[in-house]
Amino acid sequence: MIFRQLFDKTSSTYPYLLASRKGGEALLIDPVFDHVNRYLKLLEELDLKLVKVVDTHIHADHVSGMGALRDATRCVTVMGEESPAEYISMQVGDNDKLTVEGVTLTALHTPGHTIESYSFLMDDRVFTGDTLLIRGTGRTDFQNGDPYDQYHSLFDRLLKLPDQTLVYPAHDYKGDTVSTIYEEKAFNPRLQVSSAEEYADIMNGLDLPNPAMMDVAVPENLKLGLRLDAQHRVPAVEIDEILAAWPDFDGQLVDIREEEERRRHGVIPGSIHAPYGHFDQYCGRDGVLANVARTGRLVLYCAVGERSTLAVEIANELGLKGVSHMPGGFRSWEKAKGAIEKLD
Ligand SMILES: [Fe+2]
Repeated sequence: MIFRQLFDKTSSTYPYLLASRKGGEALLIDPVFDHVNRYLKLLEELDLKLVKVVDTHIHADHVSGMGALRDATRCVTVMGEESPAEYISMQVGDNDKLTVEGVTLTALHTPGHTIESYSFLMDDRVFTGDTLLIRGTGRTDFQNGDPYDQYHSLFDRLLKLPDQTLVYPAHDYKGDTVSTIYEEKAFNPRLQVSSAEEYADIMNGLDLPNPAMMDVAVPENLKLGLRLDAQHRVPAVEIDEILAAWPDFDGQLVDIREEEERRRHGVIPGSIHAPYGHFDQYCGRDGVLANVARTGRLVLYCAVGERSTLAVEIANELGLKGVSHMPGGFRSWEKAKGAIEKLD
């Protein structure tokens, strides 16, 4: 197991690098934009392939490194489905599994600091974002924060984890690096309360100044994704065109989302599956996509159009002809009332 707690001095942020083996796939939690080159160097030194980056929530104190890392590595960007950021490659819901080779995280929706705050549980440890800090908790006075939500996220979710669970927060301002659920239950001054009202009174009385970077960081973090204009840098087939011809659309739709997303949201009828995680293999000489591409056109789709934009670029580099994608992805297809088939 490769586990690194990284650090950004300016915002006192702890990003985390996870991988199961040297030479394998890696996942990065809460990367900071200013250190993207350092992360890329570390990944190279440890011979890791970055395949997913996750932000626990929209950060107000630093610009996320997710967008720059996606541009450098074509990794998948991930956030909770309540995220107000418009184009995130992959959204997870409460209790969803988030995987890279040999590593499985369980997503726990723990709102309160912000509405889209998630924690991620991995075996003996939990990454708590700004929901639970060491001897503190994340403020609840902006970005749809709510002290009552946070009370329930803490007392009904995180503090119910086994006592020995290691707590790795997104920040620490005193230099502490890790704690346990037991320690926080016993010694975190904010958690020595007997009701949600008492907790809300403490949080509402904090009267903190806004973070210095807030006016820059929040707007930047909301627009890190590949928006529709950027999705048109590769050949595209619009949803309207597909719907106008439906069900006789002259093209093979290819779903590049993960199995869990397909089961949760359904699929476009008649589409074939070639997940983004191993997309290059499907494009290889004997791959299913290479076979179809010889006779017809392929139209890739994902959740919002970000992964499919990158996948068209990969297909082109591997020499596949006639590959395009559906901008806006499955989410826009649903909005346009396109046909959907539920998987069993
Ligand atoms: Fe935060």
